[in-house]
Amino acid sequence: MAGRVDGKVVLITGAARGMGAHHARVLVAEGASVVIADVLEDAGSLLAEELGERARFVKLDVREFEQWEAAVRLTVAEFGRLDVLINNAGLVRSAPIDQHSIEDWDLVIAVNLTGSFYGIRASAEALKAAGGGSIINVSSDAGLQGYERITGYNASKFGLRGLTKNAALDLGRYGIRVNTIHPGLIRTPMVEGLEFPQNHVALGRMGEMEELSRLVLFLASDDSSFSTGAEFVADGGESAGLAHRD
Ligand SMILES: NC(=O)c1ccc[n+]([C@@H]2O[C@H](COP(=O)([O-])OP(=O)(O)OC[C@H]3O[C@@H](n4cnc5c(N)ncnc54)[C@H](O)[C@@H]3O)[C@@H](O)[C@H]2O)c1
Repeated sequence: MAGRVDGKVVLITGAARGMGAHHARVLVAEGASVVIADVLEDAGSLLAEELGERARFVKLDVREFEQWEAAVRLTVAEFGRLDVLINNAGLVRSAPIDQHSIEDWDLVIAVNLTGSFYGIRASAEALKAAGGGSIINVSSDAGLQGYERITGYNASKFGLRGLTKNAALDLGRYGIRVNTIHPGLIRTPMVEGLEFPQNHVALGRMGEMEELSRLVLFLASDDSSFSTGAEFVADGGESAGLAHRD
């Protein structure tokens, strides 16, 4: 049976573990080739090995533009083209704004926001050469509304929406679509220990990685061919308003 992303080549950051790793598995199962980019070399290499011929690992710190250029070169050298970029790498630091360290602010903005700009900047020519493509920027519910104690994260995830609108306008003429996804609380290593009751959420539960991978698959595939500059929410209703479940 034909896969939904047959023949497409996908570069995905932060894919050694968590949601990025799950997206990589689903995309390979649906026919894509993937380059797993991460700072975690052991986990990333193991995953690439497990996924087989249509997967490679590249060490990439998204804060380093030269490493981005090398990652895009490797993708094109190994698989011949680049069709989809997923800016998924991200991290969170927790402190209220009056105690948020300068170092943590700089780190979170560098990885979550500047890293995504670098990715688009480094990939644009390869995506144009492929005749167009899809860029998926991983924002958050924290890109749609405020949350206590995550100043840098909140700002970076809102920033990704602006970056996405701009990139959609500038790259639309090349057939490159650019969208954000906005996960709610999803069970991954990032949120370990945050598994409190979700009674304030319409669906009353955390999300599973698979539920975000299906959304990523849609945006990576031609099924989303008329969507660009848009925001795709998968949060169990968290951003819709306050639920009062028992
Ligand atoms: N888990 C959630 O509830 C949730 C909710 C909303 C949004 N998100 C976003 O989803 C994305 C994936 O999150 P996750 O929950 O899978 O987290 P995770 O911590 O499991 O995975 C993040 C990955 O990013 C990598 N990474 C961190 N800094 C990097 C850097 N400088 N260069 C390259 N890779 C780097 C890590 O090594 C890790 O593999 C993140 O952007 C996160 O902000 C997560």
